[in-house]
Parts: sequence; C-alpha cells; structure tokens
Amino acid sequence: MSIVVLISGRGSNMQALLAAGLPVSAVISNVADAAGLAIGRSHGLATCTVAHRDFASREDFDAALADEIDRHAPTVVALAGFMRVLTPAFVRHYEGRLINIHPSLLPSFPGLDTHARALAAGVKVHGCTVHFVTAQLDHGPIIIQAVVPVRPDDTAATLAARVLRQEHIVYPRALQWVLDGRLVIGDGVVRVRGNDAQLVYSDRD
Ligand code: GRF
Repeated sequence: MSIVVLISGRGSNMQALLAAGLPVSAVISNVADAAGLAIGRSHGLATCTVAHRDFASREDFDAALADEIDRHAPTVVALAGFMRVLTPAFVRHYEGRLINIHPSLLPSFPGLDTHARALAAGVKVHGCTVHFVTAQLDHGPIIIQAVVPVRPDDTAATLAARVLRQEHIVYPRALQWVLDGRLVIGDGVVRVRGNDAQLVYSDRD
C-alpha cells in the first residue's frame, strides 16, 4: 500500500498526509523549486520533478509523469496542489485511485481563485472537497467535504487559511478510507462502509 503525491508548490497537504502516518512513497512535482519537494526530502521520501515545460504537448507530459509514478507502483495517486490539467488518457489510467483536494464546496467554484470568488458571490459557507478525479476539471465523485463559515470581515487570505486547516483534516481521512478499501461508488455517489462522517463542519477561528 502506498501513495504517490503530486504537488506544484507549498506542499502543506502532503505534509498533513505524512503527519497522519500515511504511507507516502514518493513526491513528484512539475515545478523544480516547489517548496514541498524539500519537505519530502527531509522525510526521506523519493522526490522528483517532471517539468511540464520540457514537453511539447500535454499528452507527452502526462505520459512522462505516468512513467515516473508507475515506477513506484502506488495504490493511490494523490493530487495535492498539483496545478496541471490532466489528459483523459492519464485520468483513465488511474481510474478509481486518483484523488484530488479542491478548496471549495464542489460543484461550486471549480478552477482557480476559489476563495475570492466565494467572497464575491456572498456565500455564507465555504470549504473544501476531496473527490475522485474524472476527466472533467474539479469534478468527480465526492468522498468528503468540510464546511466553514464565511465571516463578514474575511479576506481571501483569512478564508483560505480557515479552509486549509480543514483540508489538513479531511485529506488524510479520505485517503485512509481509500487505502482501507472502504469506499463504494454507486451512481456517482460515494459511501463509506462502516458509516464514518463524510461531512466535517468547523466553526473554529
Ligand atoms: C490547497 O488549497 C489545495 O486544496 C489546492 O491547492 C492548495 C495546495 O496547498 N488544490 P498545499 O501545497 O497543499 O499547501
């Protein structure tokens, strides 16, 4: 059982997976100086960069990325702030074991700048979603969501920080369920065998 984590930057979600004791075997980035790579190295993990700029097409990049991932033969591939759109062929190759965390309550606010867009929309709750990846961006069967309040004095930064604290709780939980084989998908809806809560509500800070 092992997890390969794909990152592009800071790597705090990857760090949360390590802190939870999950069996992360490798960290791969598309950005050579991603801060998360140093964190991975300091934990003794295999790290490597597959730089998208080195490839002529999305297909070529994804094929090289898949080669690198498959060297580790992971049970699960976890996207953790990986800022590349993946090709349908790549997504198909990892069907059922490719998981993403997105900083909004999907299906609201797929894509970028979710916190600013949530504030602009005037929503009163916001949060994050862990989901199986499908070929459609930020879409796919939802494994768990965490909900936080939006406060009147929030900025995109304060809201992002509130959501991120919950990301670090729900992502390890979701991946543990995947590793334990506890998730069942029926008609696009994910259920956890044994009844664990797929919703976290946090009113803290
Ligand atoms: C997180 O907000 C994650 O939900 C989004 O990108 C951000 C990555 O943060 N996909 P980090 O690199 O895990 O700190």
